[in-house]
Amino acid sequence: MTPHRIGIIGYGGFGQFLHRAWATMDRVQVAAVADMDPGRDPGPPVRFYRQWEELTDDPGIDLVVIATPPFTHADMSCEAMTRGKHVLIEKPMATSLEGARRIIVVATRDKINRVTCLRVDTNDAEVDKRLKGYMKVVTHYNEEIILKVA
Ligand SMILES: NC(=O)c1ccc[n+]([C@@H]2O[C@H](COP(=O)([O-])OP(=O)(O)OC[C@H]3O[C@@H](n4cnc5c(N)ncnc54)[C@H](O)[C@@H]3O)[C@@H](O)[C@H]2O)c1
Repeated sequence: MTPHRIGIIGYGGFGQFLHRAWATMDRVQVAAVADMDPGRDPGPPVRFYRQWEELTDDPGIDLVVIATPPFTHADMSCEAMTRGKHVLIEKPMATSLEGARRIIVVATRDKINRVTCLRVDTNDAEVDKRLKGYMKVVTHYNEEIILKVA
């Protein structure tokens, strides 16, 4: 069976943690990483991009994982979905309700299960409450893969 091909944007502490978790699984393969810091290049056989848009353009990626600082999550996930990728967003999903709304609009536009986010946690209880309302319509790409690292 062909493994699910994962691309990780943001290869800091959490991006590397996710890579280590997926490296133990047969049915997934981290095929590419994007990070603005060239010192984060994990080396071959993983492809490395300094511009995250190159990763979302990569036809050899099925699932894009967003593990960059939270203020980048909405733009990156919407662009990845527009490029036809499934997306896993690290928490928090977004830093504003406007960002969360944009993600939901793109995720539901083509009626394809495409996006998931593990948790909210914006450090603002009121915003978290409202974001949880949005997460009810967020669907899961592959619960088996995602729950194993959660
Ligand atoms: N689920 C969890 O329990 C959990 C735990 C820790 C962190 N997180 C989340 O993971 C995300 C990353 O956290 P971290 O601790 O790994 O941060 P980090 O600072 O260690 O890593 C972020 C990486 O993103 C890169 N980056 C930043 N902007 C970029 C851009 N525009 N293009 C490409 N690369 C860019 C940085 O160079 C850095 O390597 C955050 O959203 C954080 O909330 C989740």
